[in-house]
Amino acid sequence: MLFKPTHLATTFLSLLPAVNARLRTCVPRDLPTIEVFGLQVVDIAAKEHRGYEDWRPSPMTGISVPKRPIDFCNFTITYTHPGQGDRVNVYVWLPLEDWNGRFLGQGGGGWTAGWEMSLAPSVAVGYAVAITDAGHELSSSLADMNKTRSWMLTSPGNINWVLLQNFASRALDDLPKVAQQVVKGFYGEPAKYSYWSGCSTGGRQGLMSAQRYPKNYDGIVATAPAIHWATFVVAELWAHIVMRKVGYYPPNCELEAIRQAAIKACDELDGVKDGVVAAAGLCTFDAKSIVGQTFDCGGEVRKISTKAAEVTNAIWEGPIRNGRQAWYGLPHEAPLTGLALTECDAGNENCKGKPFIASVSWIRDVVMSGQDIDLSALDEDEYWNILHRSVREFASIISTDDPDLSEFKSAGGKMITWHGLADQLIPVNGSSDYYEKVLALDPDARSFYRYFEAPGVTHCAGGPGAAPNAVLDTLVKWVEHGIAPETLDAATVPVDEAEAARHRPLCLYPLVAAYVGGDLAEAGSFECAESFDVVKRHTEL
Ligand SMILES: *[C@@H]1O[C@H](CO)[C@@H](O)[C@H](O)[C@H]1NC(C)=O
Ligand SMILES: *[C@@H]1O[C@H](CO)[C@@H](O)[C@H](O)[C@H]1NC(C)=O
Ligand SMILES: *[C@@H]1O[C@H](CO)[C@@H](O)[C@H](O)[C@H]1NC(C)=O
Repeated sequence: MLFKPTHLATTFLSLLPAVNARLRTCVPRDLPTIEVFGLQVVDIAAKEHRGYEDWRPSPMTGISVPKRPIDFCNFTITYTHPGQGDRVNVYVWLPLEDWNGRFLGQGGGGWTAGWEMSLAPSVAVGYAVAITDAGHELSSSLADMNKTRSWMLTSPGNINWVLLQNFASRALDDLPKVAQQVVKGFYGEPAKYSYWSGCSTGGRQGLMSAQRYPKNYDGIVATAPAIHWATFVVAELWAHIVMRKVGYYPPNCELEAIRQAAIKACDELDGVKDGVVAAAGLCTFDAKSIVGQTFDCGGEVRKISTKAAEVTNAIWEGPIRNGRQAWYGLPHEAPLTGLALTECDAGNENCKGKPFIASVSWIRDVVMSGQDIDLSALDEDEYWNILHRSVREFASIISTDDPDLSEFKSAGGKMITWHGLADQLIPVNGSSDYYEKVLALDPDARSFYRYFEAPGVTHCAGGPGAAPNAVLDTLVKWVEHGIAPETLDAATVPVDEAEAARHRPLCLYPLVAAYVGGDLAEAGSFECAESFDVVKRHTEL
């Protein structure tokens, strides 16, 4: 949708100098003045690139494109919300030729509000594309805790609310409003359609846009979204609370041996032996059932311990207090090294917990506002208090779990979410939970929002399962041609050249892709069904 004058400062339309139309010059002063209510542009930089090859295709972008040299203009718009003391950068890359007439906002991951790596692939398929840094560094990756700490707090004990809100929501509204004006100024005409694509934090950002800024995008891809943030990010620490409680930090090899046993036990519940647990809901494997079984740990034969089984069962169940599940656990096939990582001495002895860094920084630097608490020493009561505090103080800012999408619907928006069933960082049930809440409010929600699960796919990409690789194209067909997707085309990524990709349809939730006979590598051998009961038995190594 195009921005209607009511969404912009009223001065915008009158200020647009027609003389700049179709100049397509990569020069800051040739851009018309950027006017967005509540923000002030402080700097514009521009750099023209021809034959740019310093990029790689990435499955995180929702775009499938081979690498090729690209020609584009790189505009960087720096703005502030006057009085707030922030400085936000929006990076806009505009194809010099073959613009497809569309605008695309690309999301980030972890604490990063936008991935630079998603810009070039988007340009390569013709999009005018933009990302935001939300006012903190683009490179504030998960790896460097000190960097995240430096923007979350103004000083120890004091949260930087402006930057937290920029990250959670505000900068997501600014992004398309600023970038669309750059697009219009550069090409002399506005984008005909506006899209969003993102995974993880990018998925949450997509949902936030649909929930709070429902007129910004015609179409949104919100993959493996980090929704219910204030809850699930604290739930991510649960494995370590259980390890402390049972007094045992299992080496990763032991957890992996238990996971492999679960996959073996549950693989064929969907009727197909392919190393993927598509029937996750039917898998009731109990880790206690293999206590005492031997496994290989770095060349040494060991036995599965009762304590490791307890820890693993607790991860699968999710945080439970007095019999009530506070959040979902991980499915059996999800790798355990994301949330239950341990670090051991040589020979896999004396292991220590190594909690997921996004969870640690959220709890320590935001929920506890920078207090130096030792998370490895938390007891269960303290843990529940932190979970409660996180939800109480931050859910309205960042949880992004409002199921009321009525404004997005009436604005004509369309949205697709898909989530890997083997996601090791964000429990997939959080996505089905959200989708069901949307459907409970609006039984007709499938007319504009569709959710798909991808068995065997880990966080955003990877794993032995088939992942969709051109979701953005699917969304464009829905938005521009009214073709609503019943399935998403998905394919595995072969580990070597000798292996061929396997194709699978991902079915509209809650339908599942049931095997109905034929070549296991062909999508046509699967049909969307209400359950796996229809599956003809078929075995393959
Ligand atoms: C785009 O411009 C920004 C700001 O000047 C700069 O930081 C970034 O490195 C540029 N990227 C490319 C590929 O030109
Ligand atoms: C992070 O900060 C701590 C404490 O100020 C310091 O000891 C540590 O070396 C820093 N780490 C990095 C990677 O800079
Ligand atoms: C996740 O949802 C499925 C049904 O979709 C259910 O069978 C399973 O028990 C749930 N997992 C958890 C950990 O709640």
